[in-house]
Amino acid sequence: MSKTRVLFVCLGNICRSPAAEAVFKSLLEKNDLSDSFEIDSAGTSAHHAGEPADERMISVGEDRGFNLTSISRKFIPLDFSNFDHIIVMDNQNLKNVLRLASTDEEIKKVKKMTDYTSDDFTRFKEVPDPYYGGLDGFKLVYDLLENTCHNLLKSIR
Ligand code: 4NP
Repeated sequence: MSKTRVLFVCLGNICRSPAAEAVFKSLLEKNDLSDSFEIDSAGTSAHHAGEPADERMISVGEDRGFNLTSISRKFIPLDFSNFDHIIVMDNQNLKNVLRLASTDEEIKKVKKMTDYTSDDFTRFKEVPDPYYGGLDGFKLVYDLLENTCHNLLKSIR
């Protein structure tokens, strides 16, 4: 059976989407599903291309048992063919990705991470950019991702 390919997208690909990639991969491992999926992340900007994830995102992730290993890369139009699900973190990412879509099929692949919130997290309509803020913002990103990744996996399966 072919693998389900999921791409997480934010602006810089050094904070939210590498964390989403790590949280989702960890969930797949726990459910013995790693072999059925291919997971990656990308940024709509190339500003941090080639860099590892932000140290604060790595450190808060380690506290929760997540291992962030991705290297930043820019989202490219070919990603529409290479992935089945493209999950963006905020409205600006959504706009930037949809601008590059050329078919309805490509448009349908794109969803916001917050489309998958449940319980206390349903009030969030975006995963807030933590880059210019304090550690609480990074913790909130993980809270949101741990909540939404479960629901995303349920919805895909
Ligand atoms: P990300 O966070 O989109 O979650 O990776 C950001 C990283 C870098 C910048 C902004 C957001 N920046 O302005 O450099």
